Amino acid sequence: GTLFAKVYAAKVAHGIINNIDITKAENLPGVIRIIGHKDIPGQNQVGGIIADEPLLAEKEVDFIGMPIMIVVAESDVIAHHACQLIEVDITPKKVIVDPVEAYEVGHLLSDPIHCKKGDTTAAFTNCKYILEGEAESGGQEHVYLETQGAYAIPNGDRSIKIFSSTQGPTAVQRTVAKVLGCTMNQIEVDVNRIGGGFGGKEDQASPWAAMVALATHLLDRPVKYILERGEDLQMTGKRHPYKSRYKIGLDAEYNILAFEAQYFQNGGAAADLSPAVLQRTVFHSTNSYFVPNVNVSAYSCRTNLPPNTAFRGFGGPQGMFVMEAAIHHAARSIGVPTHVIQEKNLLTEGAAFLYGQKTEDCEAQNCWQQARLNYEVDKQLVSIEKYNEVHPNHKKGLALMPVCFGISFTNTMMNNARALVHVYSDGSVGISTGAIEMGQGVSSKMIQVAAGAFGLSNVDIKLETTNTTRVANTSPSAASATADLNGKALLDACEQILSRLKIMLAKTWNINDADTVIFHNGQATELGGTKKMDWKEAIELAFQQRINLSAKGHYATPRIHIDRTTLQGHPFAYHVYGTAILTCTVDCIRGNYEFDAVEIVHDFGTSLNPAVDLGQIEGGLVQGIGWMTLEELIYNKKGELKSGNLANYKIPDIYSVPKTVQVQYLETIGSDLAILKSKAVGEPPLMYGIGAYFALYNAIMSFNPETKMAYSAPMTAEKVLMGLYGVSVPLSV
Ligand code: MTE
Ligand code: HPA
Ligand code: MOS
Repeated sequence: GTLFAKVYAAKVAHGIINNIDITKAENLPGVIRIIGHKDIPGQNQVGGIIADEPLLAEKEVDFIGMPIMIVVAESDVIAHHACQLIEVDITPKKVIVDPVEAYEVGHLLSDPIHCKKGDTTAAFTNCKYILEGEAESGGQEHVYLETQGAYAIPNGDRSIKIFSSTQGPTAVQRTVAKVLGCTMNQIEVDVNRIGGGFGGKEDQASPWAAMVALATHLLDRPVKYILERGEDLQMTGKRHPYKSRYKIGLDAEYNILAFEAQYFQNGGAAADLSPAVLQRTVFHSTNSYFVPNVNVSAYSCRTNLPPNTAFRGFGGPQGMFVMEAAIHHAARSIGVPTHVIQEKNLLTEGAAFLYGQKTEDCEAQNCWQQARLNYEVDKQLVSIEKYNEVHPNHKKGLALMPVCFGISFTNTMMNNARALVHVYSDGSVGISTGAIEMGQGVSSKMIQVAAGAFGLSNVDIKLETTNTTRVANTSPSAASATADLNGKALLDACEQILSRLKIMLAKTWNINDADTVIFHNGQATELGGTKKMDWKEAIELAFQQRINLSAKGHYATPRIHIDRTTLQGHPFAYHVYGTAILTCTVDCIRGNYEFDAVEIVHDFGTSLNPAVDLGQIEGGLVQGIGWMTLEELIYNKKGELKSGNLANYKIPDIYSVPKTVQVQYLETIGSDLAILKSKAVGEPPLMYGIGAYFALYNAIMSFNPETKMAYSAPMTAEKVLMGLYGVSVPLSV
């Protein structure tokens, strides 16, 4: 009995709605109902941080793809046809797609962020070299394999159960309750696993769930909506494009004394997560470097594009690109290799970040030095020079890319999680957490954590779906912190059950210290003694003694805090470090290029699952290279997406990935705030991809030392060609 929903979306980027005519669409056989904003029983509002985003347009449309009506029909084909019969009369208004233009007319989504330390003005007077410039980076489409979608079914007692492709089941639950005007306990959200999210489903999964839930509420029937790829590309937000200005000052020894920047974030038509993304840009503005004097301002600019959103790195990559551009600019104008300036300014132990927190167990120098030595960077540079001398039409380039990324949601409140563990009377174990599996392997890690705690093997543990009725008030699976937060909550639950079992066995065995009872290899044993009991037997005994074999665990990251007005504090549980070396070969006739090799030294702490973590490094790297090189998101001045399909929006394929990728595990002591000292790994490797841009730039400079390329990513083959032949490559308009 399932019905199918589909959105009728705005076809112009900005305008006033005069009239909507649904008569033809309504009369199409198989159309069950056409829903508009007036049918919403609760609030017509899906904004996460700021309440500025209607689920369905009321008087005005603000971007192409903005949902206006929902068609519910017997099939998705009928819904599709019905959408084509809807007629909407709109008076167009002025369209702004450029963030700086929006800034200049005062269109901001949230308050500007200003953050400084030291005194840049004074510091610049002590600088021998001062460089100013502009840098911009483009947006990025998530291209999760599974598009956005949701399925709502009536759940009895007027409640609704929703299967949603989301990173944030609680965000879905909260948003749906708001739209339906009901309480959260009426809405159950269930997620088994999702086909990728990459940040695109941190909060942008909610509207589709709200739409099907609304239809289910009105019709009392199951309703499904899974977006077609074209709809998803058109309607959903992406990584924020940024336009930025920088000023960097260095002394005679190449110490960076001062750094200033202004970031103009293209936020799209509603705030979404933009203010939080912007904050992380500011926090990561000096990447892996210590800079004593910093002064940055950041603006979230309202434009007539779909609201942009979280994307792996969450604003960090955009900030780091500007810093790397500034250093590259300085190196080029001073006439030293970029890596000399990079190396000179790497973070050291105890150095303070812009936000006041000091480095602890800083691995910036360690990663860099090991990368330089183990992968023989000096030798590589010599052989590149030799290659370039004898190859007039092919040039190689190399870049080093250090990364330092803070782990925790920058919004301290979000850093908590819960888990539910049942040990059944036959000894089998069921676990539930708030973690969403999206391909990053968190399910494997959760099973490992529980199996390790109980001394069982992975097959003894059943991981349940992520469900808001079993585990409530979850933070989204994001900020790379999912395994840390949910793993620690899970460990807490396992330990509660374990301690009950230990006390029981200590009594049974007549021993004083319950902590000498340990669990491993499917057995309970007395440490240094002779007593032992099979796990199943111990559980059977506990069951007979009416011992509670279930537990709810909770975890809230200790130590972290941030003053929201000064942005000073200790926002991150810890930092992840690493260094990548990227080499490329440019075809100087065609402008094509290939990445020959990438070598990485990465700080995993004590990796819980090296295979999963290696997958994250490789995937993140390639996604970062895609953002910096191939993936060109183009909107024209009317706000039309010109790269609206996967034929003209190129993502990396097997031919564009580096020919070799080597990863050295920097086994460090890890951090007590990481799950079993296994550091978060989801986002940091994306930023290694930034090195791809500069490797290409360096190759171009060896062909044409006078090249006039602006720091404008992505470095597409077209831009490379223009750069090679001295055509001034402008910043985009
Ligand atoms: N890996 C896969 N395969 N699919 C994804 O959607 N999302 C990335 C990263 N790696 C993603 C991924 C993003 S944006 C984040 S924040 C983390 O995984 C989230 O998972 P974690 O917290 O478990 O690292
Ligand atoms: N990272 C990722 N997602 C988030 C964050 C963050 O710091 N804050 C809110 N959502
Ligand atoms: Mo990741 S951008 O924090 O979902």
